[in-house]
Amino acid sequence: MDATRREAFGLLIGSAALAPGIAAAADTSVDPAPPPAIRAHLGVTENPFGPSPAARKAAMKALDETPYYAWALEPPLVALIAKRDQVRPEQVGLCNGSLEALSLLPTAFSKAGPIVAAVPTYATPLLYAERQGARLDWVPVGADQQIDLAALAARAKAVGAGAVYICNPNNPTGLLLDADALRAFCVEMSKTCPVIVDEAYIEISPDPERNSMMDLVRAGHDVIVARTFSKVYGMAGLRVGFIVARPDRVKTLKSMIPTHKGRPGLAAAAACYGDATYLAGAKAYLEGCRARIYAICKANGLNSLPSHGTYVFVDSGRPNLTFQKTLASMGVEVRVFDSPAHPTWIRVGTASPAELDYFAQVLPKALKA
Ligand SMILES: Cc1ncc(COP(=O)(O)O)c(C=O)c1O
Repeated sequence: MDATRREAFGLLIGSAALAPGIAAAADTSVDPAPPPAIRAHLGVTENPFGPSPAARKAAMKALDETPYYAWALEPPLVALIAKRDQVRPEQVGLCNGSLEALSLLPTAFSKAGPIVAAVPTYATPLLYAERQGARLDWVPVGADQQIDLAALAARAKAVGAGAVYICNPNNPTGLLLDADALRAFCVEMSKTCPVIVDEAYIEISPDPERNSMMDLVRAGHDVIVARTFSKVYGMAGLRVGFIVARPDRVKTLKSMIPTHKGRPGLAAAAACYGDATYLAGAKAYLEGCRARIYAICKANGLNSLPSHGTYVFVDSGRPNLTFQKTLASMGVEVRVFDSPAHPTWIRVGTASPAELDYFAQVLPKALKA
């Protein structure tokens, strides 16, 4: 929502909620200064490279059929994913962005025990589960910033986990786990509870086939791989994701999803899944943006982690909440995370080259402020 719409919305809520006397008092108050316009949206994890030409075309064409629900588009997309990823169609569950599955499944699994996950990680879906009554158990990343698989396994065993959530590459660190170590962890852990592996950014990793845990699903392990069209495929606004898992896990997901998907998203996803030419272009674009962020950080004496995501985790060397405000006052938005071990770290999104130019311009001033 842009600033004008946000203000209008705020006023609407305010005037509807306040008693007349209070509204009159509110009228005499001094308006706070408007927030500065954000010129560099570096809080994002989306891919400004955008959808492939084929996906755009398919989404536009699908608009002609928007008077009708999109039932019929789901089975062909499921079949396409199943074929490409060498699983059976009943092992594929579509969702409205992977966030839907990542939120609903831990909610369901939490009935059997707490959900165990690393911190920091992509906490949004787990916090949703917590709001529905799930207990969460957080295990700090190691001194190397990597998800500590041994500690996760020990904690999961100690608390009788209902499920373990792993984000690989992790958000916000961008670090990729060693594929063999993760595979061994998943095989062992999934004997006692489902392991959810969030592979939202896996397509940008050096060898996605090897780094993905989909082979474990093929082999029948209780591993749930979540994928999305929101990141590398550049379609966050179209809301299409999916899981690849055991058929009973797919059934659980389907039983919890209350609604269908949108036609343009399904059509676009079917038009671009596995499009190697497009993926190579998107990957090159994102790698270029990441290299730029590393260079900007280096020029300003800041350490950053080598990332496999659409963002870079950067140690600003100063309290991150204050620094986030300083950057925002200069028109740059970044994200900080609720992680006790990372009080000085910020996440800088790959954004667009123009936004990164602006970041490069502003950062030296922000560090001196
Ligand atoms: C690690 C990770 N997983 C999943 C998601 C959810 O994305 P979507 O619901 O758009 O697929 C995000 C979005 O930021 C993410 O960073």
